[in-house]
Amino acid sequence: IQANLANSADCEILTFASLNSTNDYAKQYLSQQPVTKPVVILADEQTAGHGRLGRSFYSPKTTGLYLSILLPVTANGSVIPGLLTTGTGMAVVKALQKVLPDLPLRLKWINDLVVHQRKCGGILTEAINDLESNQISHLIVGIGLNLVTQDFPADLKDIAGALSKTPLDRNKLAADIITEFLKMYATYETGDFLPEYRRYSAVLGRQIQANTRGKIITGVAQDIDTMGHLLVATDQGLTTLSSGEITKVQLDPA
Ligand code: BTN
Repeated sequence: IQANLANSADCEILTFASLNSTNDYAKQYLSQQPVTKPVVILADEQTAGHGRLGRSFYSPKTTGLYLSILLPVTANGSVIPGLLTTGTGMAVVKALQKVLPDLPLRLKWINDLVVHQRKCGGILTEAINDLESNQISHLIVGIGLNLVTQDFPADLKDIAGALSKTPLDRNKLAADIITEFLKMYATYETGDFLPEYRRYSAVLGRQIQANTRGKIITGVAQDIDTMGHLLVATDQGLTTLSSGEITKVQLDPA
C-alpha cells in the first residue's frame, strides 16, 4: 500500500507490509518522538489487530484496509468522545460512498460499519494522556475495513461481511478516508455531520438491545443527540447512552 495523498493536508504517512496493530505502533511511535502534526500508519496486514472491548480484529493481507491516525489534540486537551467517534464513522462512510455509491452502508452506533446487518468495519479510538498535565495530548483513531469478500474464520462467519465482491483501489480509498477525516476533525466539536450520521444510522427507529457498563437496556433507539449519545426510549423512560454496544437490532419485516 502506498496511499498517495494528492493535495493532502499536512500529514505524514508511514506504510508497512505487516504490523501487530497500527494503533499499537502509533503508541510506540509517540513514545519515541514528539508528534505535532497528524501521522497516518497503514499496514497491509495486522497480526494482532484489536477492537473495542478487548476483542481481536481479523486483519488478513489483501482483503482489508487497516490504518491509524495519530493526532495531537489542540483545544487544551478537551475531547468530546461521542462526537469524535460519530464524526469518524461519517468520514469513513463519505469516503466509501464515493467509490461504492450504491452500497447500503449503515452505521451501527457507536461505530460499526454494517451492510445488510453484517459488520464490514470498525473504529477504535484511543486517547493518550500527557503524564505531566494529565490531559489528553494525542488521539489514535484506528480504522479497519473488510474490503473484499473472503472466507472468514468460523467465529465471524455469521456476523462479518465485506464491502465489495471485487478488489478496490486501497491507496485511493486510504487517501480519501484520511482527507475526509481531517476535514471532519477540523470542526468536529460543532457536530455538523450529525444530521447525515442520523440518516446513515442502522438503529434509529428500531427496537434494540444494548449493553452499557454491564447493564442490558432494551427499547427503541429514538435519536442521536448533539453530543453523539444515543437516546433510547425504554419502559422506564428515556435513557441516554454515552458508551456501550448494541447487541440486538430489530430487523425489517421479511
Ligand atoms: C471494533 O470493531 O471494535 C474496532 C475495530 C478497529 C480495527 C482497527 S484496524 C486498524 C487499527 N488497529 C487496530 O489494532 N485496531 C484498529
